[in-house]
Amino acid sequence: NQTAQIAVLAGDYIGPEIMAAGLEVLKAVSEDGKFNYQIHEEPFGGAAIDQAGDPLPAQTLATCQQSDAILLAAIGGPKWDNAEKRPEAGLLQIRKELNLFANIRPTAISEAMRQYSPIKNENPVDFVIVRELTSGIYFGTPREKTADYALDTMRYRKEEIQRITKLAFEMATKRRNHVTLVDKANVLATSKFWREIVGEIAQDYPQVNYDTSYVDAAAMKIISSPDQFDVILTENLFGDILSDESAEITGSLGTIPSMSQGSNGPALYEPIHGSAPDIAGKGIADPISMVKSVAMMLANSFDRQDLATEITNAINEVISQQVVTPDLGGHATTKEVTAAIISSIKESRHSYATDNV
Ligand code: NAD
Ligand code: IPM
Ligand code: MN
Repeated sequence: NQTAQIAVLAGDYIGPEIMAAGLEVLKAVSEDGKFNYQIHEEPFGGAAIDQAGDPLPAQTLATCQQSDAILLAAIGGPKWDNAEKRPEAGLLQIRKELNLFANIRPTAISEAMRQYSPIKNENPVDFVIVRELTSGIYFGTPREKTADYALDTMRYRKEEIQRITKLAFEMATKRRNHVTLVDKANVLATSKFWREIVGEIAQDYPQVNYDTSYVDAAAMKIISSPDQFDVILTENLFGDILSDESAEITGSLGTIPSMSQGSNGPALYEPIHGSAPDIAGKGIADPISMVKSVAMMLANSFDRQDLATEITNAINEVISQQVVTPDLGGHATTKEVTAAIISSIKESRHSYATDNV
């Protein structure tokens, strides 16, 4: 039972507030020798610009590369909007350096969350966005901005599409055997290219029901009939946009975690939202996205679904009791929600222990 090495990047604005919550829950669930780990906190994003003049200092990158998993809260904000190298550039760089090409963003409306969802949902909603994360218009060159015009480049190489497509289809076989490719193949060359390549790979998965949707229509369906989706496969920019939209139909963007993974090396776990400068310092940030990121890490990087389940059960319990932050219409603080999650974990452990004497 080796000690798990976890890099911790708290980042900016609400980043440190929710990271503290995530680490407290990790500590609680690990108690009594249940999980051995060591954390390595490093500056990242705006905090690292202030400390070291670079959003991704070499030391931070090295720590991440040497770790078994990485926890990241959120970076960026108005303080660095005019920086020469913005915090966001550090985020893109770490994704690229660690080759984290697949970003998994779950959208599920649990029974506990139902009352907070802004949409009508008779049928269960449970889908996953598989977002390509290290290519597309985020990384394509040339990129230029002059006085008269600006230029970005959307480029995809065949291998970049193939590897994420295989991952999406494999994931579908462990879920409900349905993949939807979201693109703009009626306009974009890159999208037509995706369709060809994904269509070919789909033939290797006859048990998987494969369909496609244009991104504008997909944005509509996520609101009107989200129960039709299982695995949404899409490129970088569309995945960014659709994942915030999908998060919000569950009740709050502040509750959704994500995992970014490559073919080997450490995976990175982070909320899908940003640093929420508008609410930073008020102690009211929803910690659930970060706490769920911790659960996702335990399940996926450390094969500890048992601990992840304890955490998600506790979150559902606390949500049902309506101990929630203002993003979900409640009055609880970040610290109160975190404390309630921890008590719920402890109570369940205690009653399990007393039931089994
Ligand atoms: P945001 O996601 O930070 O916030 C959008 C809205 O959601 C805000 O009203 C915010 O208060 C709310 N919100 C987000 N997380 C919440 C939480 N946990 N609890 C309660 N409410 C929450 O998006 P933005 O305001 O457009 O961006 C702010 C900064 O974050 C920008 O610099 C952006 O580039 C950066 N950003 C970083 C990441 C990341 O670190 N992965 C992701 C997205 C945006
Ligand atoms: C996200 C964020 C990032 C992205 C930004 C901050 C670069 O919005 O993780 O969703 O666009 O990928
Ligand atoms: Mn985003």
